[in-house]
Amino acid sequence: MKFDTPATTNPIDQGKVVGRAQDRIDGPLKTTGTAPYAYEHHDVAPGQVYGYPVCATIAKGRIRSIDTEAAKAAPGVLGIVTAANAGKLGKGKMNTAHLLGGPEIQHYHQAVALVVAETFEQARAAAHLIKVDYTRSDGAFDLAKAKGQAKMPSDSQDNKDTAHGDFAGAFASAPVKLDATYTTPDHSHAMMEPHASIAQWEGDQLTLWTSNQMIAWSVGDVALTLGIPKEKVRLVSPYIGGGFGGKLFVRSDAVLAALGAKAVGRPVKVTLPRPLIINNTTHRPATLQRIRLGATREGKITAFGHESWSGDLEGGQPETAVSQSQLLYAGENRMTAMRLAVLDLPEGNAMRAPGEASGMMALEVAMDELAEKLAMDPVELRIVNDTQVDPNHPERPFSQRHMVQCLRMGADKFGWNQRSAKPGTRREGRWLIGMGMATAFRNNLNMKSAARVRLGADGVVTVQTDMTDIGTGTYTILAQTAAEMMGVPLERVKVELGDSSFPVSAGSGGQWGANSSTAGVYAACVKLREAVAGKFGMDANSARFEDGLVVAGGQRKKLADAAADGELVAEDKMEYGDLAKKYQQSTFGGHFVEVAVDSATAEIRIRRMLAVCSAGRILNPKSARSQVIGAMTMGAGAALMEELVVDKRLGFFVNHDLAGYEVPVHADIPHQEVIFLEETDPIVSPMKAKGVGELGICGVAAAIANAVYNATGVRVRDYPVTLDKLLKEMPALTA
Ligand code: MOS
Repeated sequence: MKFDTPATTNPIDQGKVVGRAQDRIDGPLKTTGTAPYAYEHHDVAPGQVYGYPVCATIAKGRIRSIDTEAAKAAPGVLGIVTAANAGKLGKGKMNTAHLLGGPEIQHYHQAVALVVAETFEQARAAAHLIKVDYTRSDGAFDLAKAKGQAKMPSDSQDNKDTAHGDFAGAFASAPVKLDATYTTPDHSHAMMEPHASIAQWEGDQLTLWTSNQMIAWSVGDVALTLGIPKEKVRLVSPYIGGGFGGKLFVRSDAVLAALGAKAVGRPVKVTLPRPLIINNTTHRPATLQRIRLGATREGKITAFGHESWSGDLEGGQPETAVSQSQLLYAGENRMTAMRLAVLDLPEGNAMRAPGEASGMMALEVAMDELAEKLAMDPVELRIVNDTQVDPNHPERPFSQRHMVQCLRMGADKFGWNQRSAKPGTRREGRWLIGMGMATAFRNNLNMKSAARVRLGADGVVTVQTDMTDIGTGTYTILAQTAAEMMGVPLERVKVELGDSSFPVSAGSGGQWGANSSTAGVYAACVKLREAVAGKFGMDANSARFEDGLVVAGGQRKKLADAAADGELVAEDKMEYGDLAKKYQQSTFGGHFVEVAVDSATAEIRIRRMLAVCSAGRILNPKSARSQVIGAMTMGAGAALMEELVVDKRLGFFVNHDLAGYEVPVHADIPHQEVIFLEETDPIVSPMKAKGVGELGICGVAAAIANAVYNATGVRVRDYPVTLDKLLKEMPALTA
């Protein structure tokens, strides 16, 4: 089915199941610990043995020799895989560095060997007996130093410079201007479930039970890496304990498990130990961002400039931190530019809301700074600079843009009028109190997505697609979609996900998953409705599917009876025409935060957070709220604690475990609230929904940083905002 004209009224609009707050249908499995995660498929392949990875202890150079003799002789060891005996390996399209290194080493903790043994402990003990002798080369590890050599990324048109009007002239002549530089550090996904895979070969057929967001991408990349046809690869990933972009791609656990299983002739399971994950896998790259804003005295932006520098391994990609600056605010004279430096740190890649999450950390503090220079309320400054069209291409309207409504409602519900415009002036005992806000913005993307739906003689509808549920609630919204379309209660729908033997879906990434994958199920259900109507000799277009019945032309039939003489199976995909070219499709919101800062120690406490979101139809307000709250929490981490510390001499992230890489916990944020605007966006898809899971993180960190500024009068432009950066400029203590 092709979606190339805006949606009209369709069965989803009934809103009997879709749009209602539903508990997760997979909740009982998860809360009872019986949903099998990647490492826990104990019964799928008999005779599983254990692989333990050995990872490089240099950032760049070559392996001179690997001595595996002692490891080979260790108890229980069945085999050892290295680049020297693994055979010729390719590289996945989505991978920048090889997943098994050697003899060349491309980054610290790049895998160099896998030890396979009867037990996990034997594999781990033997891994420590492997001696690797390296020749170390010099590398570039310092973004600030490499900045001068950074180049315009050449990989895609989207990453090129943009320029409209006369930015330099308009900035020079603007009566009010801001020119500030912000830095964001490298971040780690730090998902709960470590990367893990079980590999089994049956002849030349490989099955991988793994933890992966994008099944079809990864089937292709496993095949490319191992040099086998993709038809010979099956990936199974039904439950995923978080990904945040870290599992968009095949990682070393999958490739090592496959190689280990081949070497020893048994199924092999590999998990990356937590201390190896951070340097072995991917991370959100650090940025340096310069923002220049010029405005009239009334606060109209006339010059808008945003430049960002980031680094990656040779052949890698930039952090696209300027993307929102092309769309979020009006202003006739504008420019954006990204520069990419070659760094020999581990591979940089997508992490939740790549681009906007980092870009908004800078832009929305810059807007706060500009508002202060203008003596204007920060909410009003944003409203004055709203645009209903793509500022670089004014002939392109937004499909829908309710930024102003989000900000007004947020200000009202949060009690923004209680904010003191003068920083450092509101005290409660020893605490300095501040409020901050930021706009939320993230683009909506649609991806082609297919599904199969089956109707059994028992009236149960089964949905099958290779879509993944990374903790987001996909099982539930797909069940809601099928229930609404087929007119059955939620309990009569079964959903099976994450298996490459099912039709290829959008996968989970870039907040495109929910809208795209439900649209795929919608398309398949339209086909199934036609099949059912055909069985009953009814007209599919006028038939109503409700309460387990099919009603048309004076006939009433039980849905289940359509499958009485055999299961009905329908399959289709949703594809998209050029509506996303004609209309800019984005999601909007407002973040509001109140903090308290200890006047003596500068300890920062978030007191409450509110997000108001505009993202089309909200398919399941309960799981959408959980997504946004999770994203706000992640944004709090980015604002106040998360930073991968780079060892600039040796080229690795020093704090590579959860003891050193701090992420927020419940106790860090006592109160969070989320409001969704009641709306639908018919230009986007028949679901009239948009992504929301990444919108929730975009802008949060800036809202917190702005609140800290409002509390203390100390402006920190170097994330995370920690007490050491505040202390020396804190207001004088009063008695
Ligand atoms: Mo998201 S960073 O595209 O999983």
